[in-house]
Amino acid sequence: MIQLVRGFKDILPEELSLWQYIEKKAISLFSAFGYKEIRLPLLEKSALFARSIGEGTDIVEKEMYSFIDRNEEWLTLRPEATASVVRAYIQHKMYATEPLRKLFTIGPMFRRERPQKGRYRQFYQIGVEAFGSASPLLDAQMIYMPMLFLSRLGVKDVKVHVNSLGCEECRPIYKEKLLSFINTKEAQLCPDCQRRKEVNPLRVLDCKVLSCKEAIVGVPDVLGSLCGACDTHFKIVLEILSRQKVPFEISPSLVRGLDYYTRTAFEIQTDLLGAQSAIAGGGRYDGLVSALGGPSTPAIGFAFGLDRLAEVVSQYQTILPLGLDVFIAALGEKSQGKAFDWLCELAKQGFTVEMDFDGRSLKSQMKQADRLNARFALIIGEEELSQGAVIFRNMETKEQISISTQEVVQVIADTISFK
Ligand code: HAM
Repeated sequence: MIQLVRGFKDILPEELSLWQYIEKKAISLFSAFGYKEIRLPLLEKSALFARSIGEGTDIVEKEMYSFIDRNEEWLTLRPEATASVVRAYIQHKMYATEPLRKLFTIGPMFRRERPQKGRYRQFYQIGVEAFGSASPLLDAQMIYMPMLFLSRLGVKDVKVHVNSLGCEECRPIYKEKLLSFINTKEAQLCPDCQRRKEVNPLRVLDCKVLSCKEAIVGVPDVLGSLCGACDTHFKIVLEILSRQKVPFEISPSLVRGLDYYTRTAFEIQTDLLGAQSAIAGGGRYDGLVSALGGPSTPAIGFAFGLDRLAEVVSQYQTILPLGLDVFIAALGEKSQGKAFDWLCELAKQGFTVEMDFDGRSLKSQMKQADRLNARFALIIGEEELSQGAVIFRNMETKEQISISTQEVVQVIADTISFK
């Protein structure tokens, strides 16, 4: 038997009820804040990711699913959505129509990481991005919103880790300081970091190798190198978060795994997922739109990992799959034909409805109705049908009444309230 690819997974209907619940809540909350959904292709030109996420990152160096297309062009299954959203923002000249463009997107991402609990090679994200404002108010909104979302989902015990990575003015000065420090520890660094420290020394701060973690103990603090404007910006963000009672912690070593961040960078972490503690991450990327060929445009966003989020939410609440409104049990061929007509009519009106197609016994049809968690059953017997009546049964109270075949749809509509 052919099994699925390692690191990939099926999401079965039982699990999907929770995902749909989360997605519905996300759409309603982000829409309330004025964000609009955008749907983008899963495949982009490889250069898009190399130029945005950064050549020295693990994602670009080791994790992308890239291949040469038949026309000799390098393509990549997107490892994240921000680069694609920026590409679309520029390509469709969205900057020309709205000064502040607010977008969200939901869908799968692909990274060839080592699979483990909470880490998959195809995983899903809900990502939110805003283009056109450098205001610290927007940074605060980008942190407040996901935290509000989590509380709406009943998730507790999460913390925002926040940092500022400076801007094009002060970051180079910090990188210099960092590089001189790292160079004194060169022998302790893993081969990857020895190589990539010259491209971007910040990558060493994000390395998971133990000897690198040890090497950076006592490293100069990025917050100590911020210019006046970045420092003020960061302080305002923190002040708003405190006012909104968002539980945060300043984490000066948080640099994130993507190169495009400027100023505010953050991660929402939980202890519930073992090693994979980040359920969401994001930050400002004021230089990315211009780096990809658009006009200079400040921007900021974040993304939730939906797989991890679903895992966390399931530890706080159970979302049962939607039950059935009506199960139609039919005995005999004639009754089955009638059951089919009613099934179509009821489904057309928005009820969830099922029937048995294979002429099983009444006992096994009623068992099936129970298994499907049906609220009501319509029982059609040949004899009753010939007299113009059917039985309508409340599956919970077991009460049943006889109703005329003329009234079936009306009685069901009057009995069951549905949205
Ligand atoms: P990221 O931190 O790489 O950021 O990913 C965001 C979230 O996706 C993570 O916090 C995690 O929950 C989830 N995630 C990442 N990799 C995996 C994986 N292999 N398996 C399961 N879940 C995973 C970004 O992707 C940025 N684009 C976020 C952003 C938007 N920044 C600005 N705008």
